[in-house]
Amino acid sequence: MNKVKLKYDPNLSIRENAIRCGVSESAVRKYIRTNGIDRNYDNKVAKKRAILALRKEHPDMPLTEMSRRLGNAVNTIKKYLNSGENTSDIDTQKVSTFDISNHKFIIKSVSDNQTEILLNILRLHVRRETFDCDLTYSKGIFYQHISQPKLKFDKYPLDDSIMPLEKAMNIEDASLHSIVIDLPFIVKDYNSAKTSMIAQRFNYFSSVEELYETNEAMMSLAFRKLHKNGFLVMKTMDFVYGINQYWVSNFVQNKAKEIGFVLCDTFILISKTKILTTKGEKQHFARKFHSYFFVFRKGKKHIK
Ligand SMILES: C[S@@+](CC[C@H](N)C(=O)[O-])C[C@H]1O[C@@H](n2cnc3c(N)ncnc32)[C@H](O)[C@@H]1O
Repeated sequence: MNKVKLKYDPNLSIRENAIRCGVSESAVRKYIRTNGIDRNYDNKVAKKRAILALRKEHPDMPLTEMSRRLGNAVNTIKKYLNSGENTSDIDTQKVSTFDISNHKFIIKSVSDNQTEILLNILRLHVRRETFDCDLTYSKGIFYQHISQPKLKFDKYPLDDSIMPLEKAMNIEDASLHSIVIDLPFIVKDYNSAKTSMIAQRFNYFSSVEELYETNEAMMSLAFRKLHKNGFLVMKTMDFVYGINQYWVSNFVQNKAKEIGFVLCDTFILISKTKILTTKGEKQHFARKFHSYFFVFRKGKKHIK
């Protein structure tokens, strides 16, 4: 059984892992056994991280309330709050999936599975169970195997659980830990949009300028709403329109830097479903077969 297919998450119980992956609990147990994972150690790390994260978010919360929210005894919470940085040393032959120095669980920059990329971003950078806010929620495909974000917005909300994008302006400034943006990457004039399935489903821009302006406006909005050191996860890709190539990924990186973000990681999603068609014409550019997930961190300055 291979790691990517199972998408084992050490933060979750065996039952939750089984539900998330659509496999039986015994399949998860077998995975843990065959990969020699130290589940006890992982449990301790997960528990401690949850306790510390709650304390950081609510420094004045009484221990009894923490205990109620997390389902841990007050003494357990006290113990983890008072312990040092390291939970304990692993003293068995087993491995911890939190131990990313172990090559088996090392997080790689390339994947053909976007859930794996998103989970790795959460695990490596955001260090929370899910993202605070998604500004381009659409159908929420990102959250098929990940907990729903606390705040969901979209310019064209598909149901009442999703708020119109204008409402995102009301979020208190500098209050969010993480934001996700996944804008359309298609430019179409009205007539060709009518015949393009992808363009209709996820919307499209009617000019390249509109695409660039929207990318910039959305990144600026995210910058305002994130607290210092908060994370912006931005999915993007380069594209060909007419006879030109548009390097949207370069634009996003440069603009993000101007706004005040620092790029802390890049993940490349390799397409496994894209149909390779050809009209028999001469090929001018490599066929785009990948998109990016950039992980930005909010730094100090802002241009506007
Ligand atoms: C590729 S989809 C996002 C898919 C989503 N990540 C998911 O998991 O299902 C792009 C979304 O951007 C939104 N959108 C389209 N034009 C926009 C604009 N000008 N400004 C902000 N959002 C826009 C669309 O409504 C659409 O839901």
